[in-house]
Amino acid sequence: MQAVILVGGQATRLHPLTANTPKAMVPVLNRPFLEYVIQNLSRHGVTEIVLAQHHLAGPIESYLGDGSQLGVRLTYVIEEEARGTAGAIKNVERYLDGTFLALNGDIFSDLDITEMVRFHKEQNAVATIALVPVEDPTAYGLIETDLTGRVQRFLEKPDPSEITTNMINAGTYVLEPEVLTQIPSEKQVSIERETFPMLVSSGRPVYSFPSSGYWMDAGTPEKYLQLHRDLLSGKSTWYTPGVDVEVLIGEGCNIDPTAPLIGPVLIGAGCTIGEDSVIEDSVIWHGVQVGSRVRVKSSVVANNCTLGDDSTVEGGVLGDHVTVVAGGRVGLGSQVESGETVG
Ligand code: GTP
Repeated sequence: MQAVILVGGQATRLHPLTANTPKAMVPVLNRPFLEYVIQNLSRHGVTEIVLAQHHLAGPIESYLGDGSQLGVRLTYVIEEEARGTAGAIKNVERYLDGTFLALNGDIFSDLDITEMVRFHKEQNAVATIALVPVEDPTAYGLIETDLTGRVQRFLEKPDPSEITTNMINAGTYVLEPEVLTQIPSEKQVSIERETFPMLVSSGRPVYSFPSSGYWMDAGTPEKYLQLHRDLLSGKSTWYTPGVDVEVLIGEGCNIDPTAPLIGPVLIGAGCTIGEDSVIEDSVIWHGVQVGSRVRVKSSVVANNCTLGDDSTVEGGVLGDHVTVVAGGRVGLGSQVESGETVG
């Protein structure tokens, strides 16, 4: 079985973290996000993977190469113009042969892919969509099914009175080649909003596969931070950081022994944390220099930032190479663009 991973989106909601880093390469527990998506595929025996790229394509191939280090074979395809989630799959049609998987590249999940493919074949479906429950479904597109799991209706951003389900599209699909014939070439097409509703309204068998396992769409800074909290507290059944810790520190860091790290905390390689600085519930990328008596709480700090002595970053998201001046303050909800100096 082959898989297409969609990694070409603009990732606007994850800015400024994705100003220079593609969403697929954003580090999760110090490894690029995409490695987890690939690892979940390969543990289910899926090792032929096509990466559908557009925005910021270069860094992914430079890092993952042919995929052999992860035990898979990677093919890279770059769209000249963004084609949307269905158009991107259509654009790699020439590499696909038979039933295949398609996945959003920004989702961490415990989805049982083997079981999903088995279900898809048993139903003779043309498409099977993984579903996950969410607490507040109002912000999502909902999928209504009958008792056998066959999809009946799609509801985009429903009115509260229309909510009959809390199951949403989990961003993973099993597809038959027939689906490709329904997607126009050289056009921007959304699989969620156009292709699936069209298949359902023309009576084709589209099924759903509900999953109750861990699932996180890491598309916003809040959810990205939540993913770290969840992984460090062991919420995923297949991935654990290896040791029972709430604090993970990368190689070559210099952390002053007087600096408390209050988990969940993730610190990348080559960081310095000065005396009496407190880091709590935060993700710090590589090469970050934190001075003395700094407080960082519930924040994400991207590569090579400098936080001056006595500064505070609380509920903030800092792009690469940001400088917070000594005594400066980055407050709740602040997003600081790459290269800026604030304080
Ligand atoms: P936002 O701009 O924050 O909405 O993020 P996004 O651009 O990643 O969009 P979204 O989260 O809806 O995309 C879901 C998945 O599809 C992500 O893995 C994207 O990288 C991918 N994706 C979205 N649009 C395209 C596209 O036009 N081409 C390709 N190849 N991938 C896409």
